[in-house]
Amino acid sequence: MATVGSAVGLGNIWRFPYQAGENGGGAFLLTYALAVLLIGIPAMVAEFIVGRESHLNAVGAFKKIAPKKAWGGIGYLGVFTGFMIDCYYCVVTGWTLYYLFLAASDNLLGLSVDQYSIMFSTYSSGVFPPIFALVSVILITGVIVSLGVQKGIETASKIMMPLLFLLLLALAVNSCLLEDSQTGLEFLFIPNWSEFTIDTILSAIGQAFFSLSLGMACLVTYSSYFTDDVNLIGTASKISVIDMGVAVLAGVIIFPAVFTFGMEPEQGPGLVFKVLPNVFSQMPLGYLWSLLFYALLFLAALTSFISITEVVVAYISEAFKISRVKSVILTGLTFTLLGSVCSLSFGPLSGFTIAGKNIFDSLDYLATNILLPLGGILTSIFVGWRLDKKVIEKQLNIKGKKGAAFLKVYIFFLRYIVPASVTCVLVTGLLS
Ligand code: PFF
Repeated sequence: MATVGSAVGLGNIWRFPYQAGENGGGAFLLTYALAVLLIGIPAMVAEFIVGRESHLNAVGAFKKIAPKKAWGGIGYLGVFTGFMIDCYYCVVTGWTLYYLFLAASDNLLGLSVDQYSIMFSTYSSGVFPPIFALVSVILITGVIVSLGVQKGIETASKIMMPLLFLLLLALAVNSCLLEDSQTGLEFLFIPNWSEFTIDTILSAIGQAFFSLSLGMACLVTYSSYFTDDVNLIGTASKISVIDMGVAVLAGVIIFPAVFTFGMEPEQGPGLVFKVLPNVFSQMPLGYLWSLLFYALLFLAALTSFISITEVVVAYISEAFKISRVKSVILTGLTFTLLGSVCSLSFGPLSGFTIAGKNIFDSLDYLATNILLPLGGILTSIFVGWRLDKKVIEKQLNIKGKKGAAFLKVYIFFLRYIVPASVTCVLVTGLLS
């Protein structure tokens, strides 16, 4: 459940709908599903193998079981990617905290469609309110991470995840009853290939890595706590199905509402914040629904933010031989500084762009579409080519003839399919 807690987060509810919205809806969903199945699940199992075999953190794990120390580089890359994601993840987690505050204080309902758009734009482009929210998120996370994550996160995830799922289900049914729900559902489920480009594939692969918490050795760290009786393939499949289910539910909630309220699906990172308040406003007991939703969204974001931060904090405290608390303070201060810069890139720093993207979008693009897939490629190559086959056999509990055939297929995927397909898309995407 803690691993599900890391996977399910803003990636599913905030990032998936706006990526689908920008990349043509159904075509994106289909590409995304294929990416999860063909690349995500094999890559996740590979991270689990490294984690449970070594029982160590991101960097230590590769160093311990690799024949050459250089493979520890995958761990360093993971820590660096986690660091970059943290810088903007805290901004969006801060937005969810602010919306939770609005919902709780009964200041969210009853506005018009345009007013909701303006409200979000004014808030996110401001200076102090979003920075105050992100600093609060960093403080809460700092306290939890310095106390040690395992017990707290596990308990929180066990209660929260099923609750979040039920709530999303109820909201999805509600959205299907909206006036123009059919247009929204068609947008999400019927591929429109006219908008399909190589960037759609790159974004779908990036989204799969981001949403499943792959490519930055986070799941190496989590699976280092798995006991020997955990079935790695079964666990990876279950996590992927739940994660995908949450993303699709989020899409079913958002798109019918987008079309019913006459909005555009290509609104970028603000999409869910502009659309959902309209939905809650027209629901009976809207106050309660919105309060529950933003509370759970905030907690889902927090568990993921904690899992990324854990990778960075654990590494810094070990590498520089400083206490966990000092490491938390150091990373917390850095995230405050860089997170603020990301937040300001929607306001005073919006003029500063790289290839047409503001700082926030550039960091997200670089981390998600490039560094996470790169981490995934290297991990697959490591497990497929370098790791002793006996270790894979042992970790996957392979027995008999059928098992041997399965192992062959799995290693083929790790050696060729995952690295070659992701590299092709990555290179083509970068050159185009
Ligand atoms: N999977 C998380 C989400 O969907 O929000 C984000 C994430 C967590 C990415 C942990 C990477 C990671 F290592």
